Amino acid sequence: MSKTFFIHATVALSILAGGTALAEPKVPVRLPDFKLGQYVHKAPTLEELEADESIHPELRKVILYGYDLFMNTQQLRGKYVFNEMNCRNCHLGEGRMPWSAPIWPAVTTLPNYRGKNWQVNSLEERIAGCFSYSMNGKPPPYGSDTMLALVAYHQWLARSAPIYESNIAGRGFGSVPKPAQEPDYKRGEQVFMANCAICHGADGQGRRVNGVVQFPPLWGDGAYNWGAGMSRVDTAAAFIKHNMPLGQPGRLSDQEAWDVAYFISAQERPQDPRYEQNAEFTREKYKNFHGRTLYGTEVNGRVLGEHANTGEKPFLKPDVLRARTFNLDDES
Ligand code: HEC
Ligand code: HEC
Repeated sequence: MSKTFFIHATVALSILAGGTALAEPKVPVRLPDFKLGQYVHKAPTLEELEADESIHPELRKVILYGYDLFMNTQQLRGKYVFNEMNCRNCHLGEGRMPWSAPIWPAVTTLPNYRGKNWQVNSLEERIAGCFSYSMNGKPPPYGSDTMLALVAYHQWLARSAPIYESNIAGRGFGSVPKPAQEPDYKRGEQVFMANCAICHGADGQGRRVNGVVQFPPLWGDGAYNWGAGMSRVDTAAAFIKHNMPLGQPGRLSDQEAWDVAYFISAQERPQDPRYEQNAEFTREKYKNFHGRTLYGTEVNGRVLGEHANTGEKPFLKPDVLRARTFNLDDES
């Protein structure tokens, strides 16, 4: 059984209509239920931040700066961000929304071991991960003003949440059961044209108004790179099923979500910063990750990811993506 309630998609739709007011569309929203016994978090709102006198004005300023960076990460373009993404694009509701990978659980569950880089990660390192892959960028230095502000925003959102609670309602994007038929490129393309192209463009390159991205690109140089979590077909299927089309989560069937996720994941994007030798070698080395992407496999007659394109980014791998070992000999 799934919950049905209503949200408004007026903002996005009025941009589409060229700013003219449309009748307020109300669309049913279907998201998975929370399970009994799960921790359900109520993240604080910006109004509460303004009203909370226990927060020092200087801290409030830093949290608000972190919020601003999260919502408009493009202000770091060319410095730490080398594509057209903003953090908010994949973490909807200002990073609060269940099933849209709310960001606050990282605060309460880290430091912890991450299979992605085979080491124990801090919150800063987790944020650095999204910079390196989702933003096709270079993480702000640990301890820098930029990093501290982002950390402050994440931590404030987690206010009052229990530490190291693992049973968190709505964490991540959820999952979509494997459909009856193998995901298919052609069917995915049809789902895309019918449900997504209107906002993301028939070429998947998104839409801009006065140079500002209103609808983010889904592939190509402006999008997340081959190392990003979203390039895993199952992760994209879950994000799409529970968040897209914008304002209408749950509208696509499981089959449609997988098909369209497959179609998007079969397009080219900037190189995986972990690239070594060739795409097939890199796929094999990071099998636990790339076993869920199409990287290094042949689709429509070409091997995906077999290129030297790093997008706008003038380098392949940010220096901070180094191995942490805790071998005292390696300490530098
Ligand atoms: C292209 C999409 C995308 C963008 C853009 C993006 N992220 Fe993420 N983020 C992800 C995915 C995918 C995950 C992993 C979700 C999962 O499978 O649980 C994730 C996870 C996270 C987590 C961990 C959440 C948890 O449950 O532990 C944090 C924190 C985070 N992102 C912060 C950021 C920040 C900060 C930015 C901007 C600098 C950002 N993300 C930009 C896709 C994105
Ligand atoms: C009404 C406009 C609209 C429609 C239709 C729509 N999207 Fe989106 N999509 C957005 C917006 C806006 C965002 C960024 C959300 C934000 O920043 O709040 C987004 C974000 C995304 C993202 C994550 C960010 C990125 O660029 O990678 C993916 C993936 C995505 N959409 C896929 C789809 C798919 C697949 C469909 C069709 C099933 C679809 N969208 C339909 C507006 C739309």
